[in-house]
Amino acid sequence: MTAFYPWLKTFHILSVIAWMAGLLYLPRLFVYHVGVRPGSEASETFKVMERRLLRGIMNPALVGTYLFGIALAAEPGVVDWAQGWIYVKLAAVLALTALHYCFAQWRKAFAEDRNRRSAAFFRVVNEIPTLLLIVIVVMVVVRPF
Ligand code: HEM
Repeated sequence: MTAFYPWLKTFHILSVIAWMAGLLYLPRLFVYHVGVRPGSEASETFKVMERRLLRGIMNPALVGTYLFGIALAAEPGVVDWAQGWIYVKLAAVLALTALHYCFAQWRKAFAEDRNRRSAAFFRVVNEIPTLLLIVIVVMVVVRPF
């Protein structure tokens, strides 16, 4: 391991926290957004909040998570590629990334006043990042296999 290792891990965790905050909060905003009339002042306010959250926080945090995660994985001796946990973790990361992409599409639909999805749908979607986060933390900390 190099002297950068603790710093890479620090910035990886900071990026992960920012990304997760967005992945957990954006679908909550969608739940509230569904409940207001398109064109209303509240709807326009939600559009601004959703755009700033996605572009200002979530997109840069996703990039940071990947860059620092890949730099950590490239540190000699950090990952034993013969073990299984890293592959389960990476699969969960890909699922979070796919979810991020879906959120971006749904945000665009709200921005153009053409969302047809229900509040119940977004409430269910809201649970997915939590489940994936639990899987990832168990994999990186417990390393069960
Ligand atoms: C391309 C994506 C990612 C890669 C390549 C990656 C890779 C890594 C690597 C190699 C470590 C260091 C493990 C160690 O030092 O023992 C690490 C630590 C960590 N990663 Fe990731 N990661 C990625 C995305 C994520 C995501 C999306 C999350 C959470 C949602 C996450 C959560 C963590 C946590 C909490 C740690 C600290 C674990 C510890 O040291 O105890 N990572 N990651």
